[in-house]
Amino acid sequence: MVKSIGAPHDRIDGIPKVTGGATYAADVKLEGQLYAIAVQSTIAAGKIVTLESASAEATPGVVAVYSHLNARKALTWIHSDELLALSAEALGLSALPSGSSRPVGYLPLTSPEIYFAGQWIAVVVAESIEAARHGVGRIKVRYEVDAASVVMNDEKDDWIEPTFFFGADMQVQRGNAPNTRHGEVLVQETYATPMQLHQPMEPSATTASWDGDEVTLFDSTQGVLATREYVAQSLKVPTEKVRVISAYVGGGFGSKNQVWPHQALAAHMARALGRPVRLQLTRSDMALASGHRSYTEQDVRLVADRDGKIRLLQHVSRVPTSIQGGFFEPCGLNSLLLYGAETLDVRHRVTRKNIPTPTPFRAPGETPGSFALESALDELAHTLKVDPLELRRRNFPSRDSYHDRDWSSNHLLECYRLGAAAFNWPGRYVPPRSIREGSEMVGYGMATTAYPAPALPATVRLRLQVQGLAIVETSATDIGTGMYTILAQTVADELGLPVSQLEVRLGDSTFPNAPTAGRSKSTASVLPAARQACFSLREKLASIGAPHSPMPQSNESIFSLLERQAIPELVAEGTSAGMPREHNLSFYSFGAHFVEVRVDEELGRIRVSRVVSAFDCGRIINPKTATSQIKGGIVFGIGMALMEQGEFDPVYSRLINDNLADYHIPVNADIGDIDVIFIDKPDMRFNEFGARGLGEIGVPGTAAAITNALYSATGRRIRSLPATAAAIL
Ligand code: MOS
Repeated sequence: MVKSIGAPHDRIDGIPKVTGGATYAADVKLEGQLYAIAVQSTIAAGKIVTLESASAEATPGVVAVYSHLNARKALTWIHSDELLALSAEALGLSALPSGSSRPVGYLPLTSPEIYFAGQWIAVVVAESIEAARHGVGRIKVRYEVDAASVVMNDEKDDWIEPTFFFGADMQVQRGNAPNTRHGEVLVQETYATPMQLHQPMEPSATTASWDGDEVTLFDSTQGVLATREYVAQSLKVPTEKVRVISAYVGGGFGSKNQVWPHQALAAHMARALGRPVRLQLTRSDMALASGHRSYTEQDVRLVADRDGKIRLLQHVSRVPTSIQGGFFEPCGLNSLLLYGAETLDVRHRVTRKNIPTPTPFRAPGETPGSFALESALDELAHTLKVDPLELRRRNFPSRDSYHDRDWSSNHLLECYRLGAAAFNWPGRYVPPRSIREGSEMVGYGMATTAYPAPALPATVRLRLQVQGLAIVETSATDIGTGMYTILAQTVADELGLPVSQLEVRLGDSTFPNAPTAGRSKSTASVLPAARQACFSLREKLASIGAPHSPMPQSNESIFSLLERQAIPELVAEGTSAGMPREHNLSFYSFGAHFVEVRVDEELGRIRVSRVVSAFDCGRIINPKTATSQIKGGIVFGIGMALMEQGEFDPVYSRLINDNLADYHIPVNADIGDIDVIFIDKPDMRFNEFGARGLGEIGVPGTAAAITNALYSATGRRIRSLPATAAAIL
């Protein structure tokens, strides 16, 4: 039988998704269901003096209005101080001292205080969406307004120096900073990236429905178990009374990584009203109530020898978080690992602003950090008049000197070689503004990308059914990454069954344990568990008379064996171990982006005409879904480089472009050729598949490769994104 792993298998969830057969959280329509819409604060700092809801409550179809005036009592909605007591795991990421174990910052409807514009101050529940909207418009609020601060570098800055986050020291000073001796080259620049919004196709939504003392949430989340834990604690009910179903997720990108208040709020309202309640975030709410990538400012200083060997790498980032949030962009992560400078000075500073709470956003830290680092490398290359690719080769990190470990496997040099060959990279120093075709200036740019390869324990259950079906169950989610498909491929190979005889079921908290789909860890967590489950199933089959080894080659035989033995269903589970413990190694993936841009000199119009990116992510389980995932990451990078920018109104401190009309993301016409190459060498010291996750690695470096290409084309260095036509002109 042909091996399924390694084959470009079509997505098994593709047909249901494009034909409407896949049910998303807000598609659910239950008997007696109500609809809830949040009311946003119009001020950015201060407090609510009066909130009048009588006219909203009298609106036809409106069933209830909840605000800080009644939520605690009517909903048993817990006070934010009590939220602090919730388990750190359910609360997700937090690194900042003092009040910071609140992951999402302020818990809405608990007090009259306003911390950012757009904060939820009330929720209207009605028989229809239209009635709820009508009610929202009839809420009258009077505020006491305080001065707000949404930008850094003003008098309200109060810098925090976090110590440890994302598994890394946030204040690293290692080695002795060399003096700038004669003959050394210095790059010292500040790079800025704007606020960015996740914009998944499917806005977050929770439909909550009670049956006696048990509640089911149809939710859009990257982690059903974390959601179950948080919601159960918020409701003060035992965990097993909460079921979270998230079989399909229309994109997450990190916005659905941690748990947000709306997920619990829907359950509280459904309990109070005795009817199912659907709370769907509007596109505006998606920008304000489910996280974003914060803007950043990063100072990078490079000291190098004449031959380009980097002696000192200094990377100091300044980023905001919300007044009570616990997340910030750890921009320096890749600066700790790449280029092996003998002296490292990588630090992070955070200040609290009247902004919504930032959250993980596809390669948090690495993405904005790589823009600064990879731009600075390019500046160094041009200062030295050295090919930017050659400069990176000269600074290849042969080991992970930050963690003082060897790489489990590192084929970055191979990524450089194969990517450059496929791109037809010049291979010599090309001065800026030297290539012109008609009215267009042409430029080439490149950048490195790297991303960690984590893994956590997971369990997969197999149910072999006599009628000829093998069901695969785990609570992992497929947020568009391909988990449904690669899980089917794994089980198909191990059991010798065609994928068509498998049914994969994901995203249900009643299924066995799996980690939240985040930090690119699902493949390495779930696939080894699936393999263990297959081993366990084969043992059970052997015990009822199947030949021990090899596995029955004809799929008929295992099912007819069940039939002969009158066994309707054979169930087996397998659990993975998480990170390998026997090696003291550093597990990372690597890649290199090569970009061609074309700039119309008169109009400043920028086109990314060609991208070739080569990756070392270990063995590729499915080249089709893997390529698609990476291409999506590169499209992300194109949006970041050229278009995306969340902007605050300077007077009212409101996010101006909290919608898809004003916040620009790429469409098909913006995207040229993207060629993805995988080195496809298994990392057998990581797991038995040799596979590392690749959910996020396509994003870091892309924006820098584009602005580096823009410099090559035009001689204009873009240090503040996005690089618009206006910036180029
Ligand atoms: Mo992803 S930003 O690790 O959810």
